Amino acid sequence: MNVLIIGSGGREHAICVSCKKSTEVNQIFCMPGNAGTEQISKNVLIDLDNFEEIVKFVKKNNIDLVIVGPEKPLVDGIVDFLEKNKVKVFGPNKIASKLEGSKIFTKKLCEKYKIPTANFGIFNTSKDANNFIENCKLPIVVKADGLASGKGVYICNKKEEALTAIKEIFKGKFGLAKEILIEEFLNGEEMSFFIISDGKTYCPFGTAQDHKRVLEGDKGKNTGGMGAYSPSRLENENLNNKILNKIIKPTLKGLDDLNTNFKGFLYAGLMIVENEPFLIEYNVRMGDPECQTILPKLKTDFLKLINACVNNNLNSINLEWHDDKSLCIVLCSKGYPDEYKNNLEIKNMENIKLNQNEFIFHAGTKKEENKILSNGGRVLNFVVRSDSFKNNRVKAINLINQINWGNGFFRGDIGYKVID
Ligand code: AMP
Ligand code: GLY
Repeated sequence: MNVLIIGSGGREHAICVSCKKSTEVNQIFCMPGNAGTEQISKNVLIDLDNFEEIVKFVKKNNIDLVIVGPEKPLVDGIVDFLEKNKVKVFGPNKIASKLEGSKIFTKKLCEKYKIPTANFGIFNTSKDANNFIENCKLPIVVKADGLASGKGVYICNKKEEALTAIKEIFKGKFGLAKEILIEEFLNGEEMSFFIISDGKTYCPFGTAQDHKRVLEGDKGKNTGGMGAYSPSRLENENLNNKILNKIIKPTLKGLDDLNTNFKGFLYAGLMIVENEPFLIEYNVRMGDPECQTILPKLKTDFLKLINACVNNNLNSINLEWHDDKSLCIVLCSKGYPDEYKNNLEIKNMENIKLNQNEFIFHAGTKKEENKILSNGGRVLNFVVRSDSFKNNRVKAINLINQINWGNGFFRGDIGYKVID
């Protein structure tokens, strides 16, 4: 099969590596890819908003399957466009992608199908939202409706913070805002829960715990994710069943009632409160860095799995996993998630010897004149799999220390709740 992977992060490099291992693969293309994908596939530069150019490229290069990594093209309807042009594609359609594209869509679905989630209110003027804040309990969470690269969520400990959040959102900081979501703060432990679906059936696809905050001890600003470990320490059969029965199944039923379905990876961001799951948000794709953490545990041929989903045939696949532990540390550019410098050379990459079950996935990197340069806030992912989270972390840090790059920083405490 010729495969096109859309995206440029660590998630997409991990997907690319999994495709490369498949017995089904012929050629892989990544759009736009990074310095890591360039080593095992062909990077292609086409504007991801230009669906017509993407279809032309697909036809010209006899691509059999397109895998979409990030949310934006999904929410913009790339799957509908490709399918209309008879291109096989793995990912949810535009309506199903509203699960991530509109937090208010998801909240209304939760209400209708009694899916456990934080209590909430939806307001369409700042006056109504401000009045509500006057009498609410703190902390309170204020959210912009649409995609905001993880930045449209304000956890407010003071009324003034909530009022500022409301003002910024209605002023258009995250795009035109007709409505705003305000919700109760849930106190618990977060867990990322994944399924893969072909639109007819689904299979659980692992759990992970992501460390979103930039500083050790889960302090400081929110980021895309500084590291993760899988499985989540909260996972147990009883909780899994509750998640499937109370959250996943009613959601898929809700899409069915809208005359559509979900094909792709669905990522439920959950808050677990005393072994009870509450839905915080949906993402309609794999997580990053959860994808890099989970895929090395997959035994089943990845491309066979994805191809089966695209052909509504997930039932034919026997999903098998390595029954051990995986941990990922993200090496970032100093300054991230605020300002940081790009184009700084990362030396010594080629001299690093990886043992079995050790992986380096590129994210914000590019190759120029045989040099690897930084090209983003999250730059490299170091993943180690074994029967011990502690050993994984020690080994991942050893790998990072072999790299000669003065502009990097990372969290040394990833997985502290299962290690320290
Ligand atoms: P979201 O983009 O909705 O996942 O929100 C980003 C982060 O904000 C989540 O990963 C949580 O850490 C936090 N968060 C969002 N909503 C809530 C809530 N209702 N209660 C507590 N924390 C929340
Ligand atoms: N790791 C969080 C995300 O992918 O949204």
